[in-house]
Amino acid sequence: MPTVQDIRQMAGDEPITMVTAYDAVTATLVEEAGVDIALIGDSMGNAVLGYDDTLPVTVDEVASRTGAVARGTDDTLVVADMPFLSFGTDLQTSVENCGRMVKEEGANAVKIESGDHTIELTERLSDLGIPVVAHVGLTPQSVNQTGYTRQGSDPEQAREIARLAREHEKAGAFACILEHIPANLAAQITDDLDIPTIGIGAGSECDGQVLVVNDILGLSERTPPFAKAFGNVREEMRSAIDDYVTAVEDGQFPAEEHSHVAEELDELY
Ligand code: KIV
Ligand code: NA
Repeated sequence: MPTVQDIRQMAGDEPITMVTAYDAVTATLVEEAGVDIALIGDSMGNAVLGYDDTLPVTVDEVASRTGAVARGTDDTLVVADMPFLSFGTDLQTSVENCGRMVKEEGANAVKIESGDHTIELTERLSDLGIPVVAHVGLTPQSVNQTGYTRQGSDPEQAREIARLAREHEKAGAFACILEHIPANLAAQITDDLDIPTIGIGAGSECDGQVLVVNDILGLSERTPPFAKAFGNVREEMRSAIDDYVTAVEDGQFPAEEHSHVAEELDELY
């Protein structure tokens, strides 16, 4: 079982891979591919729950899927992404919500979209034995303030992002996600921090990379400009379901080999 120390030690040596997973089957495949960290992202809001953004995702939803991913993996660090308003309001509730992922669902760590309101929480969680992944740059839970546009393109914004990353490292975060920021800013933050940076839309100079699994698979209807599909699972799924429907409609399925007959039932009426 990798620990957050193992992840920290990978920084600079070999790229860290992080992939989202929302169910046990996917989690098993993610593990078989040798992924280092499985993230139960609140991206599940768009990816699997049918919402337009991540804001409606609940603690129960993340908890249930964190349990599934933890059951589907042995050897992968499992990180639960804390949903909108599950943290940052008051410390007690925040700690309870985060603690539940570790204590009840089998997560090894939590991820929290970072701001000044999460510094104290990051410190408290780290003290309590709940490792924290920070997340700066584009933070989709702030969509109503920022939209989904790239962040940190001007020096003032860039310094603010770098400051938040540093504050969270100081507070005890063991890694920091950098989302949708210029590659040259991500490179400077990676240089500045001791903890690993994990980029998404943040160039190649980060210590690791993360993508939403639906985007990797080619399952998403819409993908952000920085994502890349490495398969065409959407087409595969559609064609399998199409073929099933056609086979039923044509009387080709089920065939004899999919059925069985009990002799005693032949003359029932
Ligand atoms: O919810 C999510 O999947 C994320 C990653 C894209 C970093 O936050
Ligand atoms: Na997220």
